[in-house]
Amino acid sequence: MTIRKVRAFGAVLPIIALVVAACGGNGATTGPGGTAAATDAAAACPAGSTKIEVQSWWTTGGEATGLQKLFDKFNADNAGLCAYNAAIAGGAGTNAKAAIKTRTLAGTPPDTFQVHMGHELLDTYVNISAGSVLAPLDASIIDTTKFPAGVVKIISGSDGKPYTVPVNIHRANELWYSKKVFSDNSLQPPTSWDEFVTTADALKAKGITPLALGDNGIWAYGMVFETILIGELGADGFSGLWTGTTKWDDPKVTDALNTLKKVSGYVNADHSSLSWDQANQLVIDGKAGMTIMGDWANGDYVAKNFTNYGWAPAPGNVGIYQALADSFPLPAKAPNADAVKKLLAFMASEEGQDIFNPYKGSIPARTDAGTPPAGGLQYNDYQKSAMGDWTKDTVVPSMEHGAAASPAWTSAVEAALTTFATGQDVAATQAALVAAAQAAGF
Ligand code: GAL
Repeated sequence: MTIRKVRAFGAVLPIIALVVAACGGNGATTGPGGTAAATDAAAACPAGSTKIEVQSWWTTGGEATGLQKLFDKFNADNAGLCAYNAAIAGGAGTNAKAAIKTRTLAGTPPDTFQVHMGHELLDTYVNISAGSVLAPLDASIIDTTKFPAGVVKIISGSDGKPYTVPVNIHRANELWYSKKVFSDNSLQPPTSWDEFVTTADALKAKGITPLALGDNGIWAYGMVFETILIGELGADGFSGLWTGTTKWDDPKVTDALNTLKKVSGYVNADHSSLSWDQANQLVIDGKAGMTIMGDWANGDYVAKNFTNYGWAPAPGNVGIYQALADSFPLPAKAPNADAVKKLLAFMASEEGQDIFNPYKGSIPARTDAGTPPAGGLQYNDYQKSAMGDWTKDTVVPSMEHGAAASPAWTSAVEAALTTFATGQDVAATQAALVAAAQAAGF
């Protein structure tokens, strides 16, 4: 990671109040709750084994498979231990985040759980007035010298100690497109939002949905808005929104909302009833030309054996890598602390990261990883290109996935976007965004 990148990423950590947002979104394959699936997963563990309960929101495609592959290797190498996925369905943790928070703050946590690095981790569980409910991780679990400094900074509490194991780096600001639809219509991926409109009009004229959106959780719409803000404001301007150096009443935010309004006219009519992966399916089926989604979409294509897709930074986002990381901490009251420490160390290892990430669609967080075991699934072309971009692009944080803003602030932005999605009132929405920043202390 370059110095510039460390600065850009580390600079965006105003530590504000807690409160996890129950922030919209839904996975496609299982209903909310996930209890039956979690019970089944536990039951698959051998009788008499020590069961390590890992709570995630990964129930579909590459996400669930990647975690299972990691567990399979860990369980095979550690006789008597059995890690299992106690998943609660709902994209972006719609249902899981609130359930995990309730359990963990009540002192009855799972052995470990999925949480995003940055504010989501620190504001909810670590830098809290009652004292951290997570245990700091020592060098036997994570060797922080093997992770980018910008990442280490936002997994560390105010005491400077690391509190979670990042298993990956996801890119949020990516445009995915159907190569067949694009070549059939002699199109190129748009590099600006003006070009997007021209491309979208061409697709619309052919009866093809220009942009697939699955925002049954508002977070997916929020991701589109974030990419437009990045395009309007640039890396520093966008990062400054979360630290107070860019004001939310800036005319460029007005422009971004006007663009969002325009872009909203090119999405599938049933967007508010679809999940992100159902929207991605429209691209796979050639019913939509494009979608804007994090690179878990890449994992979804891999899982569905779909290869005829292309990718590009979202319009106006070239050279800017909007990042987030999924991670797993050690609850202070983890029921099986010794066992889960071993699992976390495996998640932090080169081997663990290179088993997991080829399925997940993301790249490893460890700087020395990137070569999966022979015979295992290898990184695909998208991931190889992402590894290159990660080392040279300017990094900005994702709001929707916990890195940029406190959960309370994210929730307030999402409330403004929920109203905007139907009313499309630019002035009222910008006023709500200004108020949300003020409530967050900016
Ligand atoms: C994100 C998470 C990703 C993926 C996505 C869709 O919040 O970081 O790993 O699961 O939600 O559910």
